[in-house]
Amino acid sequence: MKVKINGEVRDYRTVWMEGSEVNLIDQRKLPHKFEIYKSRNYKETSMAIKEMIVRGAPAIGSAAAFAMAQAALKFNERDMEKFRKYMTGVEKFIKTRRPTAYDLFYALSFMKEKIENADSVNEAKEIAKIESKNYANEIAENCKRIGELGEKLIEDNSKILTHCNAGALCSVDYGTALSPIRFAHYNGKNIHVFVDETRPRFQGSKLTAWELSQEGISHSIIVDNAAGYFMQKGEINLVIVGADRITKNFDVINKIGTYEKAVIAKENGIPFYVAAPKSTFDFNIKSGKEIIIEERSQDEILFIDGIRIAPENSKARNPGFDITPRKYITGIITEKRILK
Ligand code: MRU
Repeated sequence: MKVKINGEVRDYRTVWMEGSEVNLIDQRKLPHKFEIYKSRNYKETSMAIKEMIVRGAPAIGSAAAFAMAQAALKFNERDMEKFRKYMTGVEKFIKTRRPTAYDLFYALSFMKEKIENADSVNEAKEIAKIESKNYANEIAENCKRIGELGEKLIEDNSKILTHCNAGALCSVDYGTALSPIRFAHYNGKNIHVFVDETRPRFQGSKLTAWELSQEGISHSIIVDNAAGYFMQKGEINLVIVGADRITKNFDVINKIGTYEKAVIAKENGIPFYVAAPKSTFDFNIKSGKEIIIEERSQDEILFIDGIRIAPENSKARNPGFDITPRKYITGIITEKRILK
């Protein structure tokens, strides 16, 4: 992803590892400050997942893969059995950081499988280092492919709605839903993006709008409740969102508010696409009903920037995600093909 710092444009990934340190673009600070959070061990990387320094399904997965590598590198005994036990504990710990995005679980199983085949602790450490990097590289490559394939769905002069942040910040690079949008822009198509601000954490207005600004892609931020209005007026002609988990029956779990957007899109005859790599597909689960939806702190709703906006005795409910049934989805853009 291109980032302009002091007038200079540089390419950044959202998460990467150098030595035993994991670097993360600190997403809590954007759009006002561009800072890299440097995590020294798996506990700090796990904290970064929980505190949403890194967020978005594929980025969480990549951070988890690097956390496993960090844990392996810190182990300083030679007994392989002890090592396996220790890594199982680490995996269990990381798993509990955020419950909904499947990529977290996918990345942990991927790493565990690779490490388990080692004959010695030293070999396991080497494998962990290499495979965590391979994992992140593959995510970036898959998101690029999603962009190249999905771009074909975007006609010149399209006005596209997106929800939450499904950009490079949510993956390692390119993004999921934002990847086709990026490629349409790179290919010279005239496009405009409607960005849902995405209450309560504002991933749209803080992160998606920042990414689009960095690349000079035309966009307008809208409040979450305005999408229906613009659809009815014919100002939106395509919707692309990401996913945190896709179940066997193709229910899509994504940021709270996605379901409503899908229903209004159908009502207005507007195509509704989901963009996701294979690491988001959970075919162990039959439908969205079986998913644990993260319920976050009510303070995210009751306060804005530390200032209470609701009456002292009011309470709030704050589910992070919702479930969009398959019948509202026109297609799913994967790295291999577009599933209709
Ligand atoms: O709570 P977040 O910010 O981690 O939620 C992220 C989303 O819901 C994204 O839309 C999702 O991960 C899709 S992009 C891969």
